[in-house]
Amino acid sequence: MQSYYAARASEYDRVYQKPERQPDLRRIEQWLPSVLSGATVLEVACGTGYWTQFIAPVAAAVVALDSAPETLRIAEQRVAASNVRFQVGDTYALSQPDRSFDAAFAGFWFSHVPLERQREFLRGLNSALEPGARVVLLDNLFVEGSSSAISEHDGHGNTYQHRSLSDGSTHRVLKNFPIEAQLHALAEEGLGKFAAYRRWEYYWAFEYLVPGR
Ligand SMILES: C[S@@+](CC[C@H](N)C(=O)[O-])C[C@H]1O[C@@H](n2cnc3c(N)ncnc32)[C@H](O)[C@@H]1O
Repeated sequence: MQSYYAARASEYDRVYQKPERQPDLRRIEQWLPSVLSGATVLEVACGTGYWTQFIAPVAAAVVALDSAPETLRIAEQRVAASNVRFQVGDTYALSQPDRSFDAAFAGFWFSHVPLERQREFLRGLNSALEPGARVVLLDNLFVEGSSSAISEHDGHGNTYQHRSLSDGSTHRVLKNFPIEAQLHALAEEGLGKFAAYRRWEYYWAFEYLVPGR
């Protein structure tokens, strides 16, 4: 995963150019800032900063993490706002002991979290946030003809796609497509207080509030 995204950094944004997804993207670009307005946001797996650019103008502050310096370099060029700090970081090892964030955002990341690590990821994220903080997960719906085909399943139920880059390399990428009920089930286990589920034609968003308030 990490080497795939490091290699893909310069061509990552092509995913935002798919013609059929443009109407959804415009809607989400309007909606996302409205739910993070005024917040101090921890963005995990920020990639090239595509979503950071819409969050930054309305947020009080943003700390945006990614494991790949290659994608962060592009993000830094794209978003030069004084309230945004990009840094290398691992979503599974978040260390923000002061819990000073009242919101978090993960765009197109949760689908790459193996099913057997989802709880670990959410617990780690929650522990970096204030009790009551709003978490927004945004991700893909599987849409035949637009999404890459699923090529494999593993014993945990994870699904995989085979993806090619323009240098001819091919990569096996874990990509899950959770349905709404699976997200609710995680919230009901106490990982988050359900706030909202939204779907567009190609995307879904799940919002929850960090327990403890
Ligand atoms: C599908 S991209 C999403 C990028 C961005 N959030 C967006 O929506 O355009 C997934 C990102 O996760 C990053 N990544 C992979 N493993 C990671 C980890 N353990 N911790 C932090 N970032 C990671 C990759 O470098 C990549 O930028």
